Amino acid sequence: MFNIILFGPPGSGKGTQSEKLISKFGLKHLSTGDLLRTEIAAQTPLGLEAKSFMDKGQLVPDEVVIGMISSALDANPHVGGFLFDGFPRTENQSIALDKLLNLKQTEIGVVLALSVSEEELVNRLLNRGLTSGRTDDNNEEVIRARIAEYHRKTSAVADYYTRFNKVVTIPGEGTVDEIFESLSAEIDRRSVAA
Ligand code: AP5
Ligand code: MG
Repeated sequence: MFNIILFGPPGSGKGTQSEKLISKFGLKHLSTGDLLRTEIAAQTPLGLEAKSFMDKGQLVPDEVVIGMISSALDANPHVGGFLFDGFPRTENQSIALDKLLNLKQTEIGVVLALSVSEEELVNRLLNRGLTSGRTDDNNEEVIRARIAEYHRKTSAVADYYTRFNKVVTIPGEGTVDEIFESLSAEIDRRSVAA
């Protein structure tokens, strides 16, 4: 199994690149943002709780997303590896993920961190907000709150995995295909070595 965290701030291209990477490398895509939006659409109690945080650009509590990921890991026992997108987002979530993977006798192979300037992030998300229907995309204040939350709580995830020498930073500006090539080359290098 080769498991990857695709890491980066809101709008850095995690979802876009995940779609391409899972088909090339045969991975199971686990996006906590997508899982939460599915819960919201189904109007479950979990979804209703999560929505109150997401609409303000704040992180959903750790125990909610860790529970979701734990269930998703159990529901997919026979995959070649997982691609985590938007998870983990706090140091606590990172520690919990390592424990869950350890129980399955596997681990994170690499953390690929997309680097994009703040102004580019805001432009991309405002632009997507014109059509996405995502309530956290159509207001610049909420977009800036998401980015602030990233700096406050999520950048610690990169610090955590840097301690284990697992983080590779990839420029996240350029064409989608150029960035995909850089990510793929890094996965090839790391998964052969693993
Ligand atoms: P989530 O759904 O994870 O959203 P996000 O991290 O804020 O990021 P996005 O999905 O908006 O961006 P992305 O990096 O996937 O970029 P994309 O490819 O879409 O989380 C939403 C919320 O859920 C959080 O705020 C939080 O409340 C909650 N949540 C989720 N996970 C959680 C967790 N683990 N813990 C606690 N709370 C959690 O691209 C963005 C746009 O840019 C698109 O329009 C795309 O077409 C465009 N684009 C992509 N690549 C390029 C490029 N190279 N050049 C130009 N444009 C590009
Ligand atoms: Mg996304």
